Amino acid sequence: METAEFYAEIKNWIADNAENDADSVLDGVCGMLRKDDRFGWVGFYVLSGDHLVLKNFRGEQTEHVRIKLGDGLCSLAILRDDIVNERDVKANTTYLACFPSTRSEIVVPVRWAGRPIGELDVDSDTVNAFDKTDEKFLQEIANLLSARVHSLL
Ligand code: SME
Repeated sequence: METAEFYAEIKNWIADNAENDADSVLDGVCGMLRKDDRFGWVGFYVLSGDHLVLKNFRGEQTEHVRIKLGDGLCSLAILRDDIVNERDVKANTTYLACFPSTRSEIVVPVRWAGRPIGELDVDSDTVNAFDKTDEKFLQEIANLLSARVHSLL
């Protein structure tokens, strides 16, 4: 499937599920993203004080269910208020390892009232899995989910 088509399907699904609760929508988005083999693990973290707390995810259980702000690529996306697209996690000393098979990771901020309140985090077993097109569409998806993530705070 074309990249644009793949993401359009997810965006349409979010619109079609506008009445559904946050957990089912965030879980559903994780599941839809994982249909693409590049998406090995997909999850949402929310900012709670000085920690990021894992909420909905699809993939293996991770030990990183609470991340102290300042640690890992997940924190960088919040502190920079920008996408972190690490093409080779093994070359990044900030990276917090969750799964031995992970080779690249993208973290996309979710914003509310102009400030980051959480993030969409994706681990891939492929080096350099995500490009600028993925960055654009994943940010659009994160923006569409802003109210859902805010409701989990
Ligand atoms: N690798 C992340 C930690 C979260 S796991 O990928 C699920 C990081 O460096 O912050």
